[in-house]
Amino acid sequence: MSKEREQFAGNLDYWEQAAASHGTTAGDTYYDLDRVIAGGTLMTEYEEAALALATGAPADAPLSKLAGLDVLHLQSHIGVDGVVMARAGARVTCADFSPTALGRALDLAAKVGVEIDVVECDARALPESLYGRFDVVYVTIGALCWIDDHALWMQQVSLALRPGGRLVMLEMHPLFNMLESRVPDLIVDLPYSGGGFVTMTGEGTYSDPASTINSTTTCYAYSIGEVVTGAVRAGLVVDRLEEHTSLAFNPRGDATAQVGDDGRYRILLGRGTRPEDAPQPLPMVFTFVATKQ
Ligand SMILES: C[S@@+](CC[C@H](N)C(=O)[O-])C[C@H]1O[C@@H](n2cnc3c(N)ncnc32)[C@H](O)[C@@H]1O
Repeated sequence: MSKEREQFAGNLDYWEQAAASHGTTAGDTYYDLDRVIAGGTLMTEYEEAALALATGAPADAPLSKLAGLDVLHLQSHIGVDGVVMARAGARVTCADFSPTALGRALDLAAKVGVEIDVVECDARALPESLYGRFDVVYVTIGALCWIDDHALWMQQVSLALRPGGRLVMLEMHPLFNMLESRVPDLIVDLPYSGGGFVTMTGEGTYSDPASTINSTTTCYAYSIGEVVTGAVRAGLVVDRLEEHTSLAFNPRGDATAQVGDDGRYRILLGRGTRPEDAPQPLPMVFTFVATKQ
């Protein structure tokens, strides 16, 4: 097997296992599916703000302009945000390479009482049936790092959008992706950019570290500059690029981010030269919204 096929197979195996498990164990508060079934959402304020910007919705009703729009939830995993957007009236297609994830998305949609379409595909090679069909391509946290060719991926996003359609992306910041831990030691196990990668073998998942899932996965690093340049080269015009230094949850555990008095997590680094200088927070996630010409 080629190295590329081996890495892809390792990642698919991990995501198949994770999709079967996520939202099913008591320890998994990240995927609180009961909350979604009860009418709630697991989107952060950043996803909501990006959707509001992309659709022209007011900030206090960020999903209110989704009705009637065609939305591709790319690398949708178990479809949580896709189902929420479908409940808001969007025609949602969830696309993922994991058949188990798509099955879970359909289950969730049935429990919520909405319809979604699902398409099993590699995000690097979307089927032509998805080309030019979407007002919004929605991608959220932890998608791009699994892709070995960011430019090809961005071309697929562009192909899926109709002219005037928008990419809505909330992703891990490449600086955060670099960090394995901040304390007790500063451990950096991924480069910042260039598609540099790390292959890791281990147990557990980001939402359920205690799970018995065993996997060998490969993640790739892309800088903000590479993401934006890839989008521009793929025919998108940048609407918004924002880097956020706090999150309401902690995707990588206490060794990287710490909770503050306001209940938000930050990666605090260093100290100033004066005793009163506080450590400064690194960016954790970024919002990227761009329009297809
Ligand atoms: C971290 S999840 C995205 C999760 C989503 N943000 C959520 O909160 O549920 C990443 C998803 O990317 C999918 N994926 C990884 N590589 C892929 C590829 N090459 N093509 C399609 N899907 C892929 C995985 O199956 C997984 O569902």
